[in-house]
Amino acid sequence: MTNKYMIFIANWKMFGGLNSLNSINPVIKFLKIFKNKKSVKIIYCPPTTLIYPMYKRLKNTPLMVGGQNCHENHKSGAFTGSINTTMLKNVGASYVIIGHSENRRNGENNTLINQKIKSAINSGLNVIFCIGETLGERKKKLTKKILNRQITSGLKKIKNKKKILISYEPVWAIGTGLIPKINELYETISFIKNKFKDYKVLYGGSVNPKNIKDLKTIENLDGFLIGGASQNSKKFIDIIKKTYN
Ligand code: 13P
Repeated sequence: MTNKYMIFIANWKMFGGLNSLNSINPVIKFLKIFKNKKSVKIIYCPPTTLIYPMYKRLKNTPLMVGGQNCHENHKSGAFTGSINTTMLKNVGASYVIIGHSENRRNGENNTLINQKIKSAINSGLNVIFCIGETLGERKKKLTKKILNRQITSGLKKIKNKKKILISYEPVWAIGTGLIPKINELYETISFIKNKFKDYKVLYGGSVNPKNIKDLKTIENLDGFLIGGASQNSKKFIDIIKKTYN
């Protein structure tokens, strides 16, 4: 890790109730005394039901809140069960995850993802834009082709690079305990950064306090998108600490 500034995003997925908010207290405390606090950015993406209470809890801290998905239309409409980017912004979100493979699997395609990203930018949100190949695509050596297509289509006609964090999450590494080989990951991150200049690029998929020692050696990474381990404040803090050790 040679970056001056690292981003840690907690994706809680469909886990957590009001009680879970207590688990962010140790993280707030830790950040106050952490010697590298100026170079850490932490963003919590809880389920939608917890965005507002979390926003209130984090209000006077450097931590930020984000949503996990949104509707593509930033105006209101008859879309039962959906939440748009204006609403996310309204309850305190500064970020939104878009293009997560768990949603792509449910039919979200690159065109829809592009519309969602535009909507988020329109509403003044920052975007955590997820991309990644499946195991089958990896075996066929299609990784770069898939990533190129996902990014090119997802970011079509989008100019504001500063508002977007690209998060590389190989589908086969999510929730499996597997991570890519470090040299392969370095190569993939370099490919993304060389092709799509000036974007910050994160890695996600089974990040934990053990493998962070290897992952942090990838010098061109800007941070991590963390699922399972982020729901446990001890593990989450451990990951952050070890990134700087
Ligand atoms: P895990 O860290 O649980 O593998 O999840 C990664 C992820 O999907 C984050 O968005």
